[in-house]
Amino acid sequence: MSYVCVGLTAQSPEETQAIGRLLGMSAMPGDVYLLVGNLGAGKTTLTQGILWGLGSDEYARSPTFVLVNEYNARLTMYHMDLYRLDSYEEIVELGLEEHLDGDGVCVVEWADKAPGYFPEDHAMITLDVVDPDTRRISLSSESDRYAEIARVLQAQQSK
Ligand SMILES: Nc1ncnc2c1ncn2[C@@H]1O[C@H](COP(=O)(O)OP(=O)(O)OP(=O)(O)O)[C@@H](O)[C@H]1O
Ligand SMILES: [Mg+2]
Repeated sequence: MSYVCVGLTAQSPEETQAIGRLLGMSAMPGDVYLLVGNLGAGKTTLTQGILWGLGSDEYARSPTFVLVNEYNARLTMYHMDLYRLDSYEEIVELGLEEHLDGDGVCVVEWADKAPGYFPEDHAMITLDVVDPDTRRISLSSESDRYAEIARVLQAQQSK
C-alpha cells in the first residue's frame, strides 16, 4: 500500500478536459474516480474529458435526475452525481455496487456525500476554484493501481 498525490493547475475548461482525457486514456476496468469540489468547480467538465479520453465523442451531462448515466466507450463509463441525494441511506438504496464492482469506469460527482460507501480501491480527485478560470485539480489514492495514473499526470505537470 502506498499513498500517491499529484496536483495540477488548469487555466481553462479545456485544460481541465485535457487532464480528464489523460485519465480516460489511462483508465482500467474497475477504476473508481471520486470527484469532490464545490458547485461549478469543474467536476462535469473533468468527466467530459474522461469520456473523450475513453474514446467516446458523446457529451457528458450531469445525470441529475437519473443519477447514473452510462456511456459505451473503450470501457463502459458510469457517471454518477449524488448532489440531489440527502442521506447516506438514499445513496445506499441506489445499489450502485453493481457498477462500482464491475468492469467499467465509475466517475462520481459529490462523492463526499457518502463517505465510506465506495470501494477502498479508488482515486479521489478534488477540484478547487482558484479564480474564475483557474482550477486546482488534485488526485490522491492509497491504492497502488493509481500510482501509474499519478505518474501520467505528473509527467503532464512537468511539461
Ligand atoms: N479551469 C476550469 N476548469 C473547469 N471549469 C471551468 C474552468 N474555468 C472556468 N470553468 C467554468 O466553470 C464551470 C464548471 O462547471 P461544471 O459543471 O464542470 O462544474 P461541476 O463541478 O460539475 O458543478 P456541479 O456541482 O453543479 O455539478 C463551467 O461553467 C466552466 O466553463
Ligand atoms: Mg456537475
